[in-house]
Amino acid sequence: MPCPPPSDELVFFVNGRKVIERNVDPEGTLLTFLRKNLRLTGTKYACGGGGCGACTVMVSKNDPVSKKIRHFSVTACLVPICSLYGTAVTTVEGIGSIKTRIHPVQERIAKCHGTQCGFCTPGMVMSMYTLLRNHPQPSEEQLMEALGGNLCRCSGYRPILESGRTFCMDSDGCQQKRTGQCCLDQEESASSTPGRRNEISTKLFSKEEFQPLDPTQELIFPPELLRMTENPEKRTLSFYGERVTWISPGTLKDLLQLKVKHPEAPLILGNTSLGPTVKSQGQFHPILLSPARIPELSVVTKTSEGLTIGAGCSLAQMKDILAERISELPEEKTQTYQALLKQLQSLAGQQIRNMASLGGHIVSRHCYSDLNPVLAVGNAALNLVSAEGTRQIPLNEHFLAGLESTDLKPEEILESVYIPHSRKGEFVSAFRQAQCQQNALPHVNASMRVLFKEGTDSVEDLSIAYGGVGTTTVCAQKSCQQLLGRRWNELMLDEACRLLLDEVSLPGSALGGRVEFKRTLVVSFLFKFYLEVLQELKKLAKLLSVPDSRRYPDISDRFLSAIKDFSVTTPRGVQTYQSVDSCQPLRDPVGHPIMHLSGLKHATGEAMFCDDIPVVDRELFMVLVTSSRAHAKIISIELSEALELPGVVDVITAEDIPGTNGAEDDRFLAVDEVLCVGQIICAVVAETDIQAKRATEKVKITYEDLEPVIFTIQDAIKHNSFLCPEKKLEKGNVEEAFEKVDQTVEGEVHVGGQEHFYMETQRVLVIPKTEDKELDIFVSTQDPTHVQKTVSATLNIPINRITCHVKRVGGGFGGKVGRPAALGAIAAVGAVKTGHPIRLVLDREDDMLITGGRHPLFGKYKVGFMNNGRIKALDVECYINGGCTLDDSEMVTEFLILKLENAYKIRNLRFRGRACRTNLPSNTAFRGFGFPQGTLVTESCITAVAARCGLLPEKIREKNMYKTVDKTIYKQAFSPEPLIRCWNECLDKSSFHSRRTQVDEFNKKNYWKKKGIAVVPMKFSVGFAATSYHQAAALVHIYTDGSVLVTHGGNELGQGIHTKMLQVASRELKIPMSYMHICETSTAAVPNTIATAASIGADVNGRAVQNACQILLKRLEPIIKKNPEGTWEDWIEAAFEQRISLSATGYFRGYKAFMDWDKGEGDPFPYYVYGAACSEVEIDCLTGAHKKIRTDIVMDACCSLNPAIDIGQIEGSFIQGMGLYTTEELKYSPEGILYSRSPNEYKIPTITDVPEEFNVSLLPSSQTPLTIYSSKGLGESGMFLGSSVFFAIADAVASVRRERDIAEDFTVQSPATPEWVRMACADQFTEMNPGSVRVASIQSATCLVQ
Ligand SMILES: Cc1cc2nc3c(=O)[nH]c(=O)nc-3n(C[C@H](O)[C@H](O)[C@H](O)COP(=O)(O)OP(=O)(O)OC[C@H]3O[C@@H](n4cnc5c(N)ncnc54)[C@H](O)[C@@H]3O)c2cc1C
Ligand code: FES
Ligand code: FES
Repeated sequence: MPCPPPSDELVFFVNGRKVIERNVDPEGTLLTFLRKNLRLTGTKYACGGGGCGACTVMVSKNDPVSKKIRHFSVTACLVPICSLYGTAVTTVEGIGSIKTRIHPVQERIAKCHGTQCGFCTPGMVMSMYTLLRNHPQPSEEQLMEALGGNLCRCSGYRPILESGRTFCMDSDGCQQKRTGQCCLDQEESASSTPGRRNEISTKLFSKEEFQPLDPTQELIFPPELLRMTENPEKRTLSFYGERVTWISPGTLKDLLQLKVKHPEAPLILGNTSLGPTVKSQGQFHPILLSPARIPELSVVTKTSEGLTIGAGCSLAQMKDILAERISELPEEKTQTYQALLKQLQSLAGQQIRNMASLGGHIVSRHCYSDLNPVLAVGNAALNLVSAEGTRQIPLNEHFLAGLESTDLKPEEILESVYIPHSRKGEFVSAFRQAQCQQNALPHVNASMRVLFKEGTDSVEDLSIAYGGVGTTTVCAQKSCQQLLGRRWNELMLDEACRLLLDEVSLPGSALGGRVEFKRTLVVSFLFKFYLEVLQELKKLAKLLSVPDSRRYPDISDRFLSAIKDFSVTTPRGVQTYQSVDSCQPLRDPVGHPIMHLSGLKHATGEAMFCDDIPVVDRELFMVLVTSSRAHAKIISIELSEALELPGVVDVITAEDIPGTNGAEDDRFLAVDEVLCVGQIICAVVAETDIQAKRATEKVKITYEDLEPVIFTIQDAIKHNSFLCPEKKLEKGNVEEAFEKVDQTVEGEVHVGGQEHFYMETQRVLVIPKTEDKELDIFVSTQDPTHVQKTVSATLNIPINRITCHVKRVGGGFGGKVGRPAALGAIAAVGAVKTGHPIRLVLDREDDMLITGGRHPLFGKYKVGFMNNGRIKALDVECYINGGCTLDDSEMVTEFLILKLENAYKIRNLRFRGRACRTNLPSNTAFRGFGFPQGTLVTESCITAVAARCGLLPEKIREKNMYKTVDKTIYKQAFSPEPLIRCWNECLDKSSFHSRRTQVDEFNKKNYWKKKGIAVVPMKFSVGFAATSYHQAAALVHIYTDGSVLVTHGGNELGQGIHTKMLQVASRELKIPMSYMHICETSTAAVPNTIATAASIGADVNGRAVQNACQILLKRLEPIIKKNPEGTWEDWIEAAFEQRISLSATGYFRGYKAFMDWDKGEGDPFPYYVYGAACSEVEIDCLTGAHKKIRTDIVMDACCSLNPAIDIGQIEGSFIQGMGLYTTEELKYSPEGILYSRSPNEYKIPTITDVPEEFNVSLLPSSQTPLTIYSSKGLGESGMFLGSSVFFAIADAVASVRRERDIAEDFTVQSPATPEWVRMACADQFTEMNPGSVRVASIQSATCLVQ
């Protein structure tokens, strides 16, 4: 192969330091460069596709046209390294450090408790930092916009937002009243020392502590770069890599000549379209042309006719340009601009809008493009340029369809886009509906334009374009032609709907499915447009006093609600908790809102996660090869091609395993047969991750498909395919009770699965040692002992040779209980076989494909009740989809059945549960462990009974709730007193009853928007149903300088366990937390640990830490007695002199717990957490969208060890639950391949999904004698409270159906996605689908507008 010519030098700055790269690889991204070349690991990898914001950094650039320095946030995972020529990059390390000075953004996010696992924190910090560089006192709207592209799976966003809000110009202390005054300020000000009164407090941090923001302290734009960009180099720069050449011409002329020479080479601007396709579709471009240094592409020209925007302008710049133009021109001229601006507001997150160019957006012609439909209907034109000259083509249906004659020629480029002003009598609108309001690709979008003959309502011109309904934007040309000359009335609307549905045909097999929903949106959007325009016409007519004869139909106020979109508002809320007893010594930190121990390190990027460990000598990288078949025999595995590739060292197969390869029916590496798509077959080991990844594509596996292939629960039932025997609990006599009740109702409930979506994907580093077969394993897990034992069995070496280390975990939620052991074992086999350290980091797609998640559930119920709503009998049968292996499915089934009764006392009960075996990846533990799915069935019974009795669901709940000391279905005694208190406080604090009336009033007045409100009670059992799972140990060392090292068996997953443990140790040893340190969780320090799960980690480990500290203090007592005035250091010195051991192991034998399934009774759980949540939503009946108006949660935390951490857990789990019940949807192909494998396809809640008002309060004066300092574990319980949003949506849907006289007891289906909501709100438009029974005439439904 000929040697490429030498590359030019790539010059840019990182954190003020000049970087000169002489051999840069154009295929590399900024993220890899930062992490691998510069060892700046603060910037995290979490998705690699621009969808999560974990890798956010700031780029600064001297704009060649405006001559101003532009600072903008980008996702480093999509920034090609070569695109950075002449720019300055600032990473989280560049703005502050614990070692020097932390930045106010870093300080505040930590002190406001905005970090839990901390994996998203550097990205959050950099988004906020960039905002402050541009706007030192931003508005709240700007803050929301800046954070819209950053995902956090732990926190529930509220504290992050609150930290940002402290910089805002309209920042107020709190919250609820929007007056700058907190409703509880009065009580608060009674004492300014937090935590001294045993009163209710709302203060989780002290603003007074914050250092001010001083913009003069920021890194300046490097003068050298300023000089470079002021006298730009015109020379073409070329960077040659192994496979790809990056060419960056300095002039337009050179670019055009290069385009002649390399017509196939794409132009690369934001790389937000090219990047993801290269990654996921394996596209490869040997030459990339970068127009980044060509100013002509960034020129903006305003004329009296229109606006021309350079194709190189970013979408964020375009937003600003449009906003400016809208403010300068009369409204009638800016219709198209307003529609574009509206779409830009919800298109992706801020980082993507900063990177993506207008040209790249248009030319990519994505079917979901939000801008192309508007540009098409707005008669935009594309200014093309080539070496031959310039020309203009219309951005119309032919261009969008990619017809050769109307497209760019290969040697042409798009220079700019001309968008004409709208005219008098012209109206343009845009619509979009996505899984959630912001930062989600649209399911369907549309833009519509109509021009009327002057002074009339007669259509002169009409354009309608849709996205998401075909392979590209679809223009409804024919329909529009046929409607010319028609008057703007319901006759026209009726015909337009029919024509559109005919023209925009979506075959049943359309890409992305959702056919009926999409077809419904096609006409629903039109209806919205019709009303909008009608409204405008009426306004105009009034203004011009048009004579009576031309009066337009009146739109009744009830129907106007169709027009208004949901706005994005900044969430507010109050968090209340009981401060500590006034007798508690000041130095005792227990009960105080202490910041997470790693908070500041999270915020500066100095907190080390597993993959931040520096490269180890001779380290190799491992990438997994997984099955592409759901059920098949492996005929052969051909490795030779892969092994021949450069850098490839080995491929590990099942044959390489010296010990046991998992369980007989759950192999770590497949043998002979695969049971699901995504099952691990073998693993490539290579020198780099890229080499390993490429080699996986060369492993050839031949399969022979096997029968049966089962994916759904229904199929599993049909095939009698189960993983374990049925679990059953029974009380009373169900059959007899059914005979005696007034009514019975039967129903079905479907609850979808859930992906853990921990921000840090699964990762492990195995380091083989040279002696005695020892291995060091650094792993992101909730259960290092399980990893240790599993590796021992796999390698066939004793457990004592293996040490597992867990510094911290970037989120687990149950997903890192079992799976890390298999990954650790495979990596360990690789390490032992090759003799090299092995690093295994799953990319997001593989993680989502391989690891499984929450079990989907199908429930059938029969409930018997009296006409007054008293439930007498309940028979529930649940099936969960366990996937292809047992994993935790039996335990999940047990917990599901045990917890199914929730808060209700029903005399006659029968609960049955089975785990189905299917050909999907094995589902596993997930926060709540079956409870969030099962209780949705129970609560659905309640709503079904309410509907039948004509009573409100809250009445049925209240009537059937446990009220006095009682026994559960499994005969465990408990007192529901805190439950009742939570329920009553929740009703009270949320003003539930008056708001229920307001909701009803609103619904009477609005036809197309409805509100719903729901309150749910909760009884959540904490812990495992086995005593041995509650044992815990700790090891506490006191060193001779008085410093204390605490080690315990729990793992820091973000839930703040280490912080709580030091609070415990501090109270016990009576010394400040600053004396103490926790280094890591290690199997060498504390052996035989139990998984950190089931909400009980802090509780049991706290008892062990307490025990160790008490032992030590006892030993010190004689010394202290002898020298009571001495210091801690004096006592420790004396103890050492007297040969007193300063190290102690603490142990907790565990809470008693057992369950006898044969008898159906036991004491399976040590205690319960009670709570209640009330949520109110508003739904858009035409699109299925919903807005969360308010949530109030009351939770019984007893005496919280740390209210900031506990409230964080409640909020985070509530938001995660809300995701489960509303937006998170797993989609599979008919072959069982998971489609939803990135944040673009799988929507976890974003910051804009947080309820507008979000209040959390911890129930005061609650005690439990059992647990450490009377605290409670709150890790999981909040999940279920997210269902209050679900039931509020269902309440709104029910009110729609009541009004429209449609059956109210519809099948409950979670998540309540926009699709489900829209189709449940059946109307004339849903009925236009071919599958519908009746094709209604819109005209006949004149009630639409009158
Ligand atoms: C996380 C994420 C979320 C997103 N969400 C949305 C969304 O909600 N709605 C939506 O509509 N879009 C969304 N997008 C898509 C995004 O709008 C487009 O990817 C983007 O606009 C493409 O611009 P770019 O500059 O990055 O193009 P690049 O990736 O750099 O280039 C794309 C293509 O355009 C060609 N090209 C670029 N400029 C020119 C030119 N001047 N002349 C000729 N050819 C040119 C290139 O040759 C290349 O083939 C999202 C993307 C991501 C990554
Ligand atoms: S890792 Fe870059 S956006 Fe997710
Ligand atoms: S703290 Fe945000 S993802 Fe964990």
